[in-house]
Amino acid sequence: MRKVGIVGIGHVGVTVAHIIVSQGLADELVLIDHNTAKLASEELDLRDSASLLDKHIFIHAGNYNDLADAEVVISALGHIDLITEGGDRFEELRANAPEARQVGADLQHVGFHGVLLVISNPVDVITGIYQKATGLPHNQVIGTGTYLDTARLKRSLADILHLDPRSINGYVLGEHGDSQFAAWSTVNVLGENIDTLAQHYDLNLTQIEQAARIGGFTVFSGKGYTNFAIAHAAVSLLELILSDAHRESIVSHFNIELGSYISSPAVIGREGIVAEFNLPLHDDEKEKLLASAKAIQQKTQHLI
Ligand code: LAC
Repeated sequence: MRKVGIVGIGHVGVTVAHIIVSQGLADELVLIDHNTAKLASEELDLRDSASLLDKHIFIHAGNYNDLADAEVVISALGHIDLITEGGDRFEELRANAPEARQVGADLQHVGFHGVLLVISNPVDVITGIYQKATGLPHNQVIGTGTYLDTARLKRSLADILHLDPRSINGYVLGEHGDSQFAAWSTVNVLGENIDTLAQHYDLNLTQIEQAARIGGFTVFSGKGYTNFAIAHAAVSLLELILSDAHRESIVSHFNIELGSYISSPAVIGREGIVAEFNLPLHDDEKEKLLASAKAIQQKTQHLI
């Protein structure tokens, strides 16, 4: 039984639920939200959808007891109304941090022992809060991190090169926020490294990197939230966990050396992070990763 829970059925949570239902990625889906009227409506809408699809899935609103034996719980709680135009994901921290602490304590209380996949922002910090609150091992608590920023970088570059973004390899590393950076040494396209590509296509790498960095706010500016791409990022990670894929992916996970949750690639499987490795980064990239970890820590000092 693939049992998945989603905590927070807002724009993002419900989109995650819809993808899981439409793609038949779970056998049981538990939905939790404190807005019980909205929760009941979303549950019904999803169940009506499921009745039109060919895969059976048991979808129900629930409580934390229902999550005791879930394989994966996804945290999509958030307060997007606190984000201002061109703002910072840290604007959500004051509301999301106490909620994450409470949800984490509730999960611990019911004996949840699966993988907790965190979307809630600022994701690197909230993932750390969840790890402490649940007491789960670090490998079982992970965040979407720069999975989405990496997708945004690939999409921007692909637009210029007239390629499918999936033909582009490479990563955005660091914080899912302002201090993230494109690790250009990891980027290659059709066997060419970034220096060759930049010369050949006259690429403005700073502009491409910045497009990824502010990509969330570009989407936010017209619709007031982002949902589809982040939901797909989370579901991609969910699939790696449920299928015990042992596949390398960019993900926010605990970096012992840096003392922080931060994004770099790791190997994902049923227990969350199943193997770690060091990317052979250039020295300036190592410095940027360190600076990004410091930026996260600085912005959260008041929490400690
Ligand atoms: C974004 C949100 C998920 O970047 O932070 O779209």
